[in-house]
Amino acid sequence: METRQGNVAVEMTVNGEPMVGIAEPRTLLSDFLRHGLGMTGTHVGCEQGVCGACTVLIDGQPARSCLTFAVQAEGCRVDTVEGMAEGGALSDVQEAFRAEHGLQCGFCTPGFLAATEALLAENPDPTDDEIRDYLSGNICRCTGYQGIIAAVRRAAQTRKAASA
Ligand code: FES
Ligand code: FES
Repeated sequence: METRQGNVAVEMTVNGEPMVGIAEPRTLLSDFLRHGLGMTGTHVGCEQGVCGACTVLIDGQPARSCLTFAVQAEGCRVDTVEGMAEGGALSDVQEAFRAEHGLQCGFCTPGFLAATEALLAENPDPTDDEIRDYLSGNICRCTGYQGIIAAVRRAAQTRKAASA
């Protein structure tokens, strides 16, 4: 729906909730989530597709929200870090990152969590090399990555044990 100023109403399902916000056609999905919907869990680092901090899931696929216009996600299911913990309890992936020290400052973490969810949906039992390869588009300036690799491995094992 176009408004008088040329802005558009954008509807999407965010973390399972139908939401609508007003955006310019050029508004980035990252800005729409953060400023339009007040969901600041998605972080913005480089704003040019390099760091992966802004990664969210769009219809289950990892996407750089800084390279996606909000209008491109019209009608889609968008999942962000805000939807991961249930009832105040960390998700299995979040808990694995906590337990394995897969974060320090946490700036990169929402992107890593989203990418990890996508990886485990695609490949529930990844090798370390597969984890490294899949997460190679996400940059962390703090951890040296070892804790992150261990966290993904732990999350995969936890999920496997839960489904056995
Ligand atoms: S902020 Fe989107 S990739 Fe860095
Ligand atoms: S934990 Fe600080 S950038 Fe990754």
